Amino acid sequence: MGARPLLNRRLAGMGTTIFAEMSALATATGSINLGQGFPDTDGPQEVREAAVRALREGRGNQYPPGPGVPELREAIAEHQQRFYGLTYDPDTEVLVTAGATEAIAAALLALLEPGDEVIAFEPFYDSYAACIAMAGAVRVPLTLRQPAFRPDLDELRSLITPRTRLLLINTPHNPTGTVLTPEELAAIAELAVEHDLLVITDEVYEHLVFDGAHHPLAALPGMRERTVAISSAGKTFSFTGWKVGWVTGAPELVAAVRTAKQYLTYVSAGPFQYAVAEALRLPDAYYAEFRAELHRKRDLLAAGLAEAGFRVFEPQGTYFITTDITPLGEKDGIEFCRALPARCGVVAIPNAVFYDRTEIGLAQVRFAFCKRESVLREAVERLHRL
Ligand SMILES: Cc1ncc(COP(=O)(O)O)c(C=O)c1O
Repeated sequence: MGARPLLNRRLAGMGTTIFAEMSALATATGSINLGQGFPDTDGPQEVREAAVRALREGRGNQYPPGPGVPELREAIAEHQQRFYGLTYDPDTEVLVTAGATEAIAAALLALLEPGDEVIAFEPFYDSYAACIAMAGAVRVPLTLRQPAFRPDLDELRSLITPRTRLLLINTPHNPTGTVLTPEELAAIAELAVEHDLLVITDEVYEHLVFDGAHHPLAALPGMRERTVAISSAGKTFSFTGWKVGWVTGAPELVAAVRTAKQYLTYVSAGPFQYAVAEALRLPDAYYAEFRAELHRKRDLLAAGLAEAGFRVFEPQGTYFITTDITPLGEKDGIEFCRALPARCGVVAIPNAVFYDRTEIGLAQVRFAFCKRESVLREAVERLHRL
């Protein structure tokens, strides 16, 4: 094969995702997995039954329509109206994808030319870096710095160049739990309009906000026509394995994303699409109880981690807590996380892997709290051994 590396230059160094590595370590060592963000209990029984019904009745067992089944597109449009007062046409302004992951990939691959610059919050969710690279574009980090992890809006302004094409905004933000305020969103929107930038918003944790509220950027003046909003059923309904996500936006944007999407997966998850349509229509009580339950779990794990000696940065949203391990006499989160299963039977994720400049986040470690309370209590007890 010669000396040329098999993996192309764009993906060089991306290797295996940290989640796969740490989840494998959790399985191999029988550790409690507070690494990867998936719940350890499945979502509502009636939604599972809806999927079974669809399978049995032969709905979605063959290729569903490219943009997604009409029932789900209508339910997504209804959801945007119900929670945010945003009106989308289910036929031209909604696209169903294989999770938010595919939506992110398709949007970046569709909207970027090689050399375009994309500004995104650092620490980044890991697929952003990979997909920006696959598009041949350049990522430009806007670092959220501890302890507050707020975006510095003057810095954002200074990062915009004639090559900037797109802002990639994640709120609520993984891994820091930052939820952008209406003022921050307004300032970002103003810059986007002023510089005529496209915006992708990753809102997969939209229903997991404990302090403040989630506001979609697309609702702000001048934003609807330039924003590709992305969300997914995985986090909101605790079905991360179903991989049903979606895009909402103006027809031209959705058409562009659909063009890339049709050559990635074409379609996916037929029967689950019908079930997610039912899930989105669950009463307000479902959403409120889900949020309240995760809120309790956040408080439980945050208190436990603080007692165990971590510096805890309380998240306003998502189901992750970022900590600093310096008070434990530790410096390197990557080494710390690799050793943690053997030391006390717990798996966590080093935030360093979400930074271009690893050193900034080297002492940060992320714990997921979307687990049963008994599991969180046991994890805390184990972490006290440190
Ligand atoms: C910020 C963010 N975006 C996207 C995703 C992926 O979502 P999905 O499972 O729907 O592909 C995740 C999952 O952890 C996430 O944290």
